Order: sequence, then C-alpha cells, then structure tokens
Amino acid sequence: MQIFIDSANLKEIEKWVRFGIADGVTTNPTIMLKDGITDMEKGAREIAGILDGKPISVEVITDTPEEMLSQAREFSSWAKNIVIKIPIINQFGDPCLEVINTLENDGIRVNATAVLSFGQMALSAKAGATYSSIFSGRVADEGADPWGLVSMSVEWLESWNFKTKIIVGSIRSVMDIQNAAVAGAHIITIPPQFLTKWVDHKYSRDTVKQFMDDARKAFKSFKK
Ligand code: E4P
Repeated sequence: MQIFIDSANLKEIEKWVRFGIADGVTTNPTIMLKDGITDMEKGAREIAGILDGKPISVEVITDTPEEMLSQAREFSSWAKNIVIKIPIINQFGDPCLEVINTLENDGIRVNATAVLSFGQMALSAKAGATYSSIFSGRVADEGADPWGLVSMSVEWLESWNFKTKIIVGSIRSVMDIQNAAVAGAHIITIPPQFLTKWVDHKYSRDTVKQFMDDARKAFKSFKK
C-alpha cells in the first residue's frame, strides 16, 4: 500500500519524504488555497522537485474538454512526475471520460478525481485512468459506505486486470486511514495532520518516559 500526502505544504511534504513515508502527493485548488500557493506553476514545480520522480497530482481548473486538454498538456510539461487530475464529470454533469482517454493515449497520466460511486470508478478505469480517486469522506457525507466501495472497487479492478489504482482521499480522521487500509486501498492520500496523529500514542510516550526515568536510576552514566 502506498501513502500520498494530501497537501501543498512544502515543509510537510519534505518532512514525510525524509521520513520515508511519502510515495507521492495529491493537490487540488482548495488545498493550494489553504496552503498559500498563489502561483500554481511555481508551487507544482517545487513539490515535483522535492518528490524526485514520485507522482504529484495537479488538477485542471476549467469545465470544457478543450481547455482541460490544453491545461493538462501545459501542467504536465512542468515536470515529468506531474499527473493530471481530471474530474470524472464537470460541475454541470458532463462526463470527462474522453479527456481522460485522450490524455492517457498521449502518454499523460491521469488521476480521475471526485469519484463517489462504483460506476464512476469503473468508467474511469475503462477510460484508461492511471488512478481513480475515491473521496471517502464525501461518500460518507451522503450516507453511503466508503469502505465497501473501496473494497469492491479494488477487487473488481484486480479481477479484470485493470492498470488503474484506487487512491482513497477525503480522509477526515485517523480511523479513516485504518478503514481504507483494511478495505484494500492501493493508495491512501493523507493530510499531514492525520499522519502525525497516526504515529503518536500517549501510552508509548509514557512507556518511553518510564524507561528513561529508570535508566537514570539504574545507570551511573545516566545519573546527571
Ligand atoms: C484528494 O485527492 C482530494 O483532493 C482530497 O482528499 C479531497 O478531500 P476533501 O473531501 O476533504 O476536500
């Protein structure tokens, strides 16, 4: 299972790369806004550089297929490891499957995004997407079960030998990470604050403190 960092915060990305945890990064316009990226090209190039060949997803910002294609071609020219996020449908409900298919046929990797149903996932795979991003938190917002959707999707993709990998996004808690992992997600994209929480445990801290306190009592060299 791979872990992507769902962030445009350069310091956080650098840190999780250094820790050996980050296999890639996902962004979207909301994440860039939150993390203070005002120059999309500069931000994307910087993140791509930190990742040293690992994928970074950058999302198109238009509703028309022609503009999606031209933005995708421009964004992907910024660095070899840039993957283009194409929404599965635009804000008016028009399918973006032809854009996904054209880009993949041209050798530009696509992350089909805003995927909320099995049908959307299956069609993104049929269109040739390298990644299909299931937004687990938003699936649950609508009263559906994101973990059933993730496990069905992974099983279906693997049984038919699709190349498409499921990225589980829209992580809202540490338990979401565990649920996504157990459901068989190929990749989970995680906001850094939840990775920090995932590694921490109060009782581990207490345990380490106990050993340090007793080392001080037991060993002369520790007495100071
Ligand atoms: C990942 O690729 C998505 O951009 C992100 O996880 C969406 O999360 P949200 O539903 O919290 O906006």
